[in-house]
Amino acid sequence: MTPISINGAARRVRLDVRDPDFYRNPLPAYAALHAECPAFFWEEPRQWYFAGYDQVNALLRDRRFGRQILHVATREELGLAEPKPHLKDFDALEAHSLLELEPPAHTRLRTLVNRAFVSRQIEQLRPEIEALSHAVIDTFEKDGGVELLKTYAETIPVTIIARMLGIPIEAAPCLLDWSHRMVKMYVFNPSVETELDANRASAEFAEYLKGIIAGKRAEPADDLLTHMITSEKDGERLSEAELVSTTVLLLNAGHEATVHQIGNAVRTILKSGLSATELFANEETTQRTVEECLRLAAPLHIFQRYALCDVEIEDGVALKKGDRIGLMLGAANVDPRKFSAPDTFKPDRDEGANVSFGAGLHFCIGAPLARLELNIALPILFRRLPGMRLKDEPPVKDSFHFHGLERLDLVW
Ligand code: HEM
Repeated sequence: MTPISINGAARRVRLDVRDPDFYRNPLPAYAALHAECPAFFWEEPRQWYFAGYDQVNALLRDRRFGRQILHVATREELGLAEPKPHLKDFDALEAHSLLELEPPAHTRLRTLVNRAFVSRQIEQLRPEIEALSHAVIDTFEKDGGVELLKTYAETIPVTIIARMLGIPIEAAPCLLDWSHRMVKMYVFNPSVETELDANRASAEFAEYLKGIIAGKRAEPADDLLTHMITSEKDGERLSEAELVSTTVLLLNAGHEATVHQIGNAVRTILKSGLSATELFANEETTQRTVEECLRLAAPLHIFQRYALCDVEIEDGVALKKGDRIGLMLGAANVDPRKFSAPDTFKPDRDEGANVSFGAGLHFCIGAPLARLELNIALPILFRRLPGMRLKDEPPVKDSFHFHGLERLDLVW
């Protein structure tokens, strides 16, 4: 039973994101929202949310909205609570993060980082990702079964992003631990324990990176971190705080979502009953398969924006400066006005792009890297283990914003 109650006429919705029936499979709730009111006031978080493809796509690009608000208003003006002292180290990382900035600070930082992430640069990683995928499969191929997330899905993205940045790969277990503790913050109402732990992880992570940055300053190398240290734009370099924040963001964003997308994709493909040989027959079919998995089983389902001024958007939704809105990427991807039979896995559909990587100013800088990793790691896995199947129904993580699996046990 989908635990949703919709008052279509008033555009009001009640839905508990912690209800397992919802987060395990949000598609029935999304279908109900599309049928009755794709723009709605969600009672629990008390703000407006948007589920329609066109509206989400347009709002992501709408410059009247931003990820940040404190560059145009004070906390006092907006009645926002003061920052929590026990989140000092966590907040310090967010304050200089690309993802939390708006122009002009965002433009400057993004330009400095972007060069490393354009498709031409990223394509050069192909042989390394292929070799790594094979090497990881070699470690478990003879076992007849594996838990895929902790082995394959986690190893590839963290290794590649650490190598790109020039962080020693021996640090991978620490990087994963810090990152897991920090992303626990991105749920509705994290507990004080979660906050304290995320703050400790932020402090340890920043301390570690300051040491690495000092090393690179003394001995520059051919890697992204050295490039960020030495790059200038309009005579300005990145400050130490910006370097640390950006590196944390790249390391965290660089694997958290991709890990879950590998898991979600493997599960989707195995459950579809379609032939993996045909799905991965060539580069074009592989690309279509990867994009259809990103559409139907995206790892990130919601992002927030602040109204930067008083705004009235279509349908008469009136927002005040500082109001937050939620953009439901996962729901936009299954909008029946955009995609036919949206809950069906159909890699040969030709109905336009998914919004899993966002759109506009904050469009995922790592999309070419994530796509390359998925386009390499998935076909290699299915080719090497042709008899692969689900051992049991994989448990879904108890978080809705990050839609992923707890574990993924496979046998062959
Ligand atoms: C399947 C994997 C991934 C998905 C689905 C994904 C999704 C997203 C989305 C939706 C956003 C936009 C958020 C917003 O508009 O508020 C974003 C931003 C971002 N992503 Fe990704 N991402 C993935 C992988 C990566 C990777 C591999 C990296 C880095 C190596 C990365 C780095 C970033 C960064 C730095 C931003 C912030 C960009 C900005 O604010 O200008 N992501 N990602």
